[in-house]
Amino acid sequence: KQRVRIPYLRKMKESGQKWAMLTAYDMYTAAIFEEADIPVLLVGDSASNNVFGNDSSLPVTVDELIPLVRAVSRSTHRPLIIADLPFGSYQASAKQCFKTAARFMKEGGAHAVKLEGGREMLPQVRKLVSSGIPVMAHIGFTPQAEHQLGGYRVQGRGGRAQDLLETASAFEEAGAFALLIEMIPETVATEITQSVSIPTVGIGAGRHCDAQVLVWQDMAGLRGGRLPRFVKQFANMRTLLRDAARDYMAEVEGGIFPAAEHCFEE
Ligand code: KIV
Ligand code: NA
Repeated sequence: KQRVRIPYLRKMKESGQKWAMLTAYDMYTAAIFEEADIPVLLVGDSASNNVFGNDSSLPVTVDELIPLVRAVSRSTHRPLIIADLPFGSYQASAKQCFKTAARFMKEGGAHAVKLEGGREMLPQVRKLVSSGIPVMAHIGFTPQAEHQLGGYRVQGRGGRAQDLLETASAFEEAGAFALLIEMIPETVATEITQSVSIPTVGIGAGRHCDAQVLVWQDMAGLRGGRLPRFVKQFANMRTLLRDAARDYMAEVEGGIFPAAEHCFEE
């Protein structure tokens, strides 16, 4: 099977065919999602929470994320691999952004990068595009700015919808290949989706985006506790894995595992 590339995603939008994106941070999940035919994988800075155990996306570093991107790109042949640029690695200037993105492409084997922000990120997007690095812009609720935004809150309500629409068009104009739209009202996301010719990927952005994305541990029910409204669990891996661990432990403690068939003869 051929590698998914950007023109293919644009064609899907033109033909009204929705597609799904998932995060992936390691070999097995990446390979399994490829088997499932997921066309686009994001090595999200959400690895900060979901791999490294931080309580926000802010602490994760480029040096921590690059090996995860490499694991995902090595383990797959078909999906487009997008690397998230972590907090502090691109905001300072277009030059800083290019240097970071180039590391994700060269060392990580990514095919594109994603960055968060509004129109202040246009120089960064233009620099990447002119350097041959495809970029997805992440607008609406942007977790790296949670302290500025006052926590996990729906964006683009009230009078702010127009501003989001203009930001979306500006990113399209600057050459972004897609827009990730997080936690905004469905009506606003729909309007953005209709007003740009590049694909929109929604998370908590309603039913009418061109694509959807979820963090895989949320999608598969590995994460416990209270979930955001926009998450749907398609499996309960937390229970599955815990029960497997308990069964294993019980068999070891009860002298049932290992059995004869697991042992070597002389
Ligand atoms: O880091 C991440 O997982 C994201 C989400 C939008 C899926 O950016
Ligand atoms: Na992210």
